[in-house]
Amino acid sequence: LIGQKAQKEGYKAYAIGGFVRDLLLGVENLDIDIVVEENAISFAEKLVKYIGGNLKTYPNFGTATLTLKDGSKIDFATARMEFYPFPAALPEVEETTIKHDLYRRDFTINTLGFKLNSPVFGDFLDFFNGKKDLEDGIIRVLYNLSFVEDPTRILRAIRFEARYGFKIEEQTLAFMENAINNNMLEEVKVGRMADELKLMLSEKTGLTSFKRAMDLGIIDKIFGEIEDKDRLLKEMETVNNLMEICQVKGISIDEPFLVYLRVILSHCREHIRIKFLKGMNLEKNLYDDLMYFFEEYKGALEKLRNPKFYSPSELVEILGDFSHDSLIPLTAISGSNLVKRRVFLYLEELSKVSIETKGEDLLELGFKPGPIFSEIMENLRKEKLDGNISNKEEEIIWVKS
Ligand code: CTP
Repeated sequence: LIGQKAQKEGYKAYAIGGFVRDLLLGVENLDIDIVVEENAISFAEKLVKYIGGNLKTYPNFGTATLTLKDGSKIDFATARMEFYPFPAALPEVEETTIKHDLYRRDFTINTLGFKLNSPVFGDFLDFFNGKKDLEDGIIRVLYNLSFVEDPTRILRAIRFEARYGFKIEEQTLAFMENAINNNMLEEVKVGRMADELKLMLSEKTGLTSFKRAMDLGIIDKIFGEIEDKDRLLKEMETVNNLMEICQVKGISIDEPFLVYLRVILSHCREHIRIKFLKGMNLEKNLYDDLMYFFEEYKGALEKLRNPKFYSPSELVEILGDFSHDSLIPLTAISGSNLVKRRVFLYLEELSKVSIETKGEDLLELGFKPGPIFSEIMENLRKEKLDGNISNKEEEIIWVKS
């Protein structure tokens, strides 16, 4: 349909990038990227009238996203040929623009495409031997300065390498190491770096990539010299295992990436940690939650590692202000089975204990609203946690006494 419309309206449209790569690999990828010569936005605006859906346009970038009724998304981008001089003479004039556009991309395996226009529908585009690299499992850049122009590609390379079990080609690895050693990663804004790390750690093979990033010195460049790399790796693996346990037990985790990030940042110097957290522009409640973790986790661990007996209400006092997303890294950092048992007792049982007495019950009992209300509720909960009361009747008797 897209091809027919493009042909009718005088545009050239191509399916390109990750969608085509994964199609050839037989891997599911529902994110379809279409490149349009000469104007993706005006084409998408015409298309939406034809096939329906919800269109969002980004004029500054010459892109548009069409969300179809079934929820699937199609991204449209205008083929661009500015910025990068292309060295070789261009044999087919009609394909100049798309060829330039593909040349600007990260790796040869991402430069494959299909023509969509109706008479030539399905014609395969492979200007840079991407299909061969895909078959051989090779990640290769298209030009020497690729990592310098966009250092986030360093992380993309190791992400794809682990995801598909591919190998970064020798020369490409040398360009990459060169960019790392020349501090190119420091040029990337924290927000973009965090996005890229999040993508990496969201993959099934995220920890393999993380280890590779560590071995290549990437993590040191992003977060400052990590002193005990083996310990960090071990803690990351523990986080991964603990999150799997949480999933099985139905314990909710809000943002797995931030769970990993807490562990990484606990190995950093404070000024780097603050700079990273500020640079991520997190929502205030998330930022505060992370800051609370860094302020409090060491003190909490000291108590939790102490083999002395804690009553349930004492455990809740130590753990109750930490979010689930903070308790997982706290457990991983502790490396202690005792801490793990205590945290999971809290997550699975103690955090769910609540009282039935409400404000109106206290009013009925003749209390005047004020700080006394929360004081009573807090003490009631302690009594309930420690097994001294078990139902509303007993709660009311306790309040009266
Ligand atoms: N791209 C690039 N440089 C980047 C990011 C993206 O050249 N730093 C190009 C790649 O060629 C990629 C395309 O833009 O194919 C679309 O980017 P994205 O959707 O992020 O990548 P996918 O390859 O689809 O990756 P994924 O499978 O992880 O979604």
